[in-house]
Amino acid sequence: MRANDMNLINLTALLLWLVGGQVAGVVAGSMILMDPELPLKKCRYIRSYDLLQAQCKDLKLNDVPNNLQTGIEVLDARENRIRELRNDTLSRYMSLRYLYLQDNFVQTIAEHAFGPTYYLEVLDLSKNGLLELPKSLYQLQSLRNLYLSDNQLTDAVFDVSGIRSPLQWLYLANNKLTRLPKLSPLTTLTLLNVSHNSINHITTEDIASLCSLQIFDITGNPIRFDQNNCECYELREWISFRGIKLKLPLDCPPAVRERCSIVEFSNRTMSLYSTCLANVRNRVEARKARSTWIWIASCIGVFISCIFVALCCMHKRNRNKRQRLKEQEVLASNNANTEQLLNKDVSHEQS
Ligand SMILES: *[C@@H]1O[C@H](CO)[C@@H](O)[C@H](O)[C@H]1NC(C)=O
Ligand SMILES: *[C@@H]1O[C@H](CO)[C@@H](O)[C@H](O)[C@H]1NC(C)=O
Ligand SMILES: *[C@@H]1O[C@H](CO)[C@@H](O)[C@H](O)[C@H]1NC(C)=O
Repeated sequence: MRANDMNLINLTALLLWLVGGQVAGVVAGSMILMDPELPLKKCRYIRSYDLLQAQCKDLKLNDVPNNLQTGIEVLDARENRIRELRNDTLSRYMSLRYLYLQDNFVQTIAEHAFGPTYYLEVLDLSKNGLLELPKSLYQLQSLRNLYLSDNQLTDAVFDVSGIRSPLQWLYLANNKLTRLPKLSPLTTLTLLNVSHNSINHITTEDIASLCSLQIFDITGNPIRFDQNNCECYELREWISFRGIKLKLPLDCPPAVRERCSIVEFSNRTMSLYSTCLANVRNRVEARKARSTWIWIASCIGVFISCIFVALCCMHKRNRNKRQRLKEQEVLASNNANTEQLLNKDVSHEQS
């Protein structure tokens, strides 16, 4: 009796444990019955916008998986526990165009981590622990959007010239900057977000070389302007002249308002600006020249193909003609043979 009771209690406990576990699995959000302690570490594939995407979001991954399909164009590995990007981390994924790694623990990125991802266009590394960036990042020929907000990046990281990436959006909010990034050239940049840093000074010359800039977010910085000259009014005038959207209006010192009613841009400002514009024009012309050459090459290609097809047709026709002639010859010789035989038969009969 006592043993039976014990069994019954054990059975009930087991049932409760099972039901409890399953309920917990359901409550865990996925509506899949599973042990919540064992995450499903499996990326899913989807095809959308005609791109092959690997969905690895929130899988408690410690590393970028190295067994995904090599042809993926989008890798979404946000909200994981990835700590590092090594030289070989992305080496299998040479078709990557969009890489989402926000909300991980990435602190170090090897100098050549992005070497294999030649076609990368969008990189999101927001909300990590980045202290430094590999310089080779800016050599990516297609990189347009770079998200680096909420890291520990300092001024020194952005002292880079010879940038080849056609950057359009650069997000650097919530880092440790004390001045604007000194990246050059940034001729194609349209959006710069440096909000919530420790930037305390901005001059017109700092942004003169950003001749494509349209949106500029500097909110949440302790910016101070000289009370004794017109630098604030000059910057305000430049922003209005360029039609740049600033999130907050500049608060210029009222003491010098009268004196600064007419401001003049420095020669250096104008020369930085016109250099950038010339650069943009060169880019546009280079692109036009390239497309002209592609067009010419295509025409030549089509012409050669036409000639090839024509030659093939002629060759086939000749071959058919030859074959027909041959058939006729065979037929004729067969006829001759038959005739001979008939003649023989006739002569045989006659004899
Ligand atoms: C990464 O590759 C570069 C060049 O191939 C090499 O200099 C560097 O030491 C490598 N880094 C690591 C961590 O292996
Ligand atoms: C800039 O970044 C901050 C913080 O991420 C964000 O709140 C703000 O909307 C961004 N500004 C623009 C213009 O995108
Ligand atoms: C700026 O340029 C103008 C004309 O190009 C010249 O007359 C002037 O001296 C220059 N000013 C400075 C400070 O170089």
